[in-house]
Amino acid sequence: MTAKELREKFINFFTEREHKVIPSSSLIPENDPTTLFISAGMHPLVPYLLGEPHPQGRRLCSVQKCLRTGDIEAVGDTYHHTFFEMLGNWSLGDYWKETMIPLSFEFLTKVLKIPSEKISVTCFAGDKDAPKDEETAKLWEKAGIPRERIFFLGKEDNWWGPAGKTGPCGPDTEMFYDTGKPDCGPDCQPGCSCGKYLEIWNDVFMQYYKTPEEDFKTLEQKNIDTGMGVERTTAVLNGLDDDYKTELFLPIIKEIEKISEKSYEKEENKKPMRIIADHLKASVFILAEGITPSNTEQGYVLRRLIRRAVRFGRMLEIHGSFSGLVAESVIRTMGDTYPEIVSQSERIYRELGLEEERFLKTIQRGTKEFEKLSQKGKITGKEAFFLYETYGFPFELTVEMAKEKEIEINEEEFIKAQEEHQRKSRIGAEKKFAGGLADQSEQVTKYHTATHLLHAALRKVLGETVRQAGSNITAERMRFDFTYPSKMTDEQINKVEDLVNQKIKENLPVEFKVVSLEEAKKEGAMALFEQKYQERVKLYKIGDFSKEVCGGPHVSFTGELGKFKIIKEEASGAGKRRIYATLS
Ligand code: ALA
Repeated sequence: MTAKELREKFINFFTEREHKVIPSSSLIPENDPTTLFISAGMHPLVPYLLGEPHPQGRRLCSVQKCLRTGDIEAVGDTYHHTFFEMLGNWSLGDYWKETMIPLSFEFLTKVLKIPSEKISVTCFAGDKDAPKDEETAKLWEKAGIPRERIFFLGKEDNWWGPAGKTGPCGPDTEMFYDTGKPDCGPDCQPGCSCGKYLEIWNDVFMQYYKTPEEDFKTLEQKNIDTGMGVERTTAVLNGLDDDYKTELFLPIIKEIEKISEKSYEKEENKKPMRIIADHLKASVFILAEGITPSNTEQGYVLRRLIRRAVRFGRMLEIHGSFSGLVAESVIRTMGDTYPEIVSQSERIYRELGLEEERFLKTIQRGTKEFEKLSQKGKITGKEAFFLYETYGFPFELTVEMAKEKEIEINEEEFIKAQEEHQRKSRIGAEKKFAGGLADQSEQVTKYHTATHLLHAALRKVLGETVRQAGSNITAERMRFDFTYPSKMTDEQINKVEDLVNQKIKENLPVEFKVVSLEEAKKEGAMALFEQKYQERVKLYKIGDFSKEVCGGPHVSFTGELGKFKIIKEEASGAGKRRIYATLS
């Protein structure tokens, strides 16, 4: 089945069931300043999920263009993309689970003809915010999925949204296709990232609203929001284990093969070719929205995508400009479905060419400077930052070229110089990221450092079983959740507060080094949410008082924090406490 047929079959299935088709909205959100791009089919529908009547009624479906910047670094494997297409259907306070689950089963098994025994599903396991979704599991059983292929997972896996910082969200149930590959280990099950189980559809039960305080309030209107990735599902339906081999990418890959005179079948070429195909495809769609490469917001993401594609082009030993040729293949491949990229093609070629040229110049100038600096046999982190800051020369390139010359680069020093710069110019404060606004103002940095002090102080006063269970920082206060079975006494609260203030007074240096997660653990550092960390992590030390793995940034000395005060201590779910505190 082609991608075109898949789109049509999906839309027909739902229009036959009284859904109205809505056109894909623009990739740029209209009324949501917290995110840069539309990242899901539901995103343009937020007001209607919250109760505003939709002019087309309560049942909708669409094929939506989406872009997820959070996945830029993940692109390179068989199934991650920045730009992708999402099929979706919605019930805005209309039908509920008992209708949606049989519909999902019917579409997968009857229309897409996926054998039922190849399908397994996951449901929400329940936590303090919402109960276990046994209801959905029962509906799956009734539809024809036996218990042994129904799994329960927590929020990390079976909760979706909000698309921005706040908004509608809820527990979900995800449908997986079993590729038939062997289990990767005894714990292999749907949700495992080994590639045996591929997620093809997600039904979200949008019945909660996440508030700025990170509480979940029940929505008056119970909605269904579903999402099926066109790329992955097309791959599955054609028995392909690589999205880049589907008709949605193959002509683009072929073009890259032609330009580079290299083969996609060679393992070492796969990653750079996928990155080039993905990034330039995304760039074509962003350019079609009228965005121009720049240093802020959507323009910055566009610049990053184009430059990253060019950089990986170099790895394939492509030296001239090539983005226009690749863009042409994107437009040929996708133009039928998305005529805007055809009508904007001239602008797309022009802007791509200009940006590629600018970047190639940058590389030339930076390379010259690099040669000069490297003559002394080493490049300091500060110098690498200078190359980046003054010439826009990417750090990765400095590292790559240093490797060729067998020169050492101090990565920690580079990061430190970068952070110092960010703190000074506060550019971070304006930077928006996919998941919402990342406020890196000075005050937030201070609170961030204070959470490390508080964490260590709580462990000193209440015992080593205390573990951070979450935190939330605004410019006005910090909130800190931790595991502890009972209410803190006034005496304990005072002790913790005094200890933090004493450490502030000692004006301890805040330092970090880059180490492997293993080394960090060996040193006895606290590492939270371990699975999220890369192999190389930043280990922050505050004097001898605190040792924690964390992304930073932090103040340089604790004396910068001012006076620490605990405002409130309260329960926060079973076995957990919550502290609100301020710095003044
Ligand atoms: N909004 C849901 C998702 O993106 C359907 O997976």
